[in-house]
Amino acid sequence: MASRLFEEREHAALYQRYRLSSPFQIRNLILDYLQRKKGKPFTLAVDIGCGSGQSTRGLASYFDRVVGIDVSEAQIEEAKKVDGPDNVSYRQGVAEELEFKDGSVDLLTAAAAAHWFDLEKFMKEVDRVLKPKGCLALYCYRVPFELHYNACSERLTQVVQQALKTLAPYESEKTRIVRTEYREIFDTITFSDKERVNNIQFKQSVPILWIKGFIESLSYYQAFQKKDPEVAKATLERMERDVLQTMGVSSRETMLEVKWTAFCLLASKPE
Ligand SMILES: C[S@@+](CC[C@H](N)C(=O)[O-])C[C@H]1O[C@@H](n2cnc3c(N)ncnc32)[C@H](O)[C@@H]1O
Repeated sequence: MASRLFEEREHAALYQRYRLSSPFQIRNLILDYLQRKKGKPFTLAVDIGCGSGQSTRGLASYFDRVVGIDVSEAQIEEAKKVDGPDNVSYRQGVAEELEFKDGSVDLLTAAAAAHWFDLEKFMKEVDRVLKPKGCLALYCYRVPFELHYNACSERLTQVVQQALKTLAPYESEKTRIVRTEYREIFDTITFSDKERVNNIQFKQSVPILWIKGFIESLSYYQAFQKKDPEVAKATLERMERDVLQTMGVSSRETMLEVKWTAFCLLASKPE
């Protein structure tokens, strides 16, 4: 059974505004792997759990065709709103039943999404739709992230970690898989040719207001908000006040740096 989250329109809009575009460090890692294992031509890439397309669009220049698939109609609508390359398309669908022909896909990716899938069914589909030597790349970002601003980086990171701790009881079994850096998912990959890359680091400049928006986009914040809307709102408002005070600024537009760490599982289908 696919997990039915992220489906509400407001949640999808938060994704569009606050979620990360896949960084070039991860894209290059995946493309190098595909080149090494299968080589060109790169005809078709499919990004599953594509959300509003932030993990999909970056693949456009390397493939004849890129398709983003998501179980949520609201996310697909958001993805389609963005002006993007002509060779990228989006459609609603599930990871467990991919509407692609046997042996037709060069690369399958899932960014911050594989932990939501029914992995046994998904792996059967991966094996069916990939070309011989075609590749699978499943990656995700570590939360909490680090924040950097002048001399107060450590204190800032603590302020945000404190707010995230308040959300911890609302985490699901699925999001806990992220904390183990996809250990269980690695074990369910049926191809023997598989590897993991840890500690992929990259930075992003964001305004202060991004921190609150990003946390609001997390599934477990959404769960907190449903259960206790007033406390959920107050938690993030307090966090934002503490961030402004720690940085000694008054504008939510003030820029700071987020340092992310990601991990990626890579696998290649036998010939
Ligand atoms: C955390 S979001 C990641 C979105 C995007 N890939 C990114 O990089 O931000 C996870 C997405 O996976 C989708 N999803 C969850 N289970 C799914 C399934 N079984 N099949 C397809 N999509 C699924 C959700 O609707 C959601 O848009």
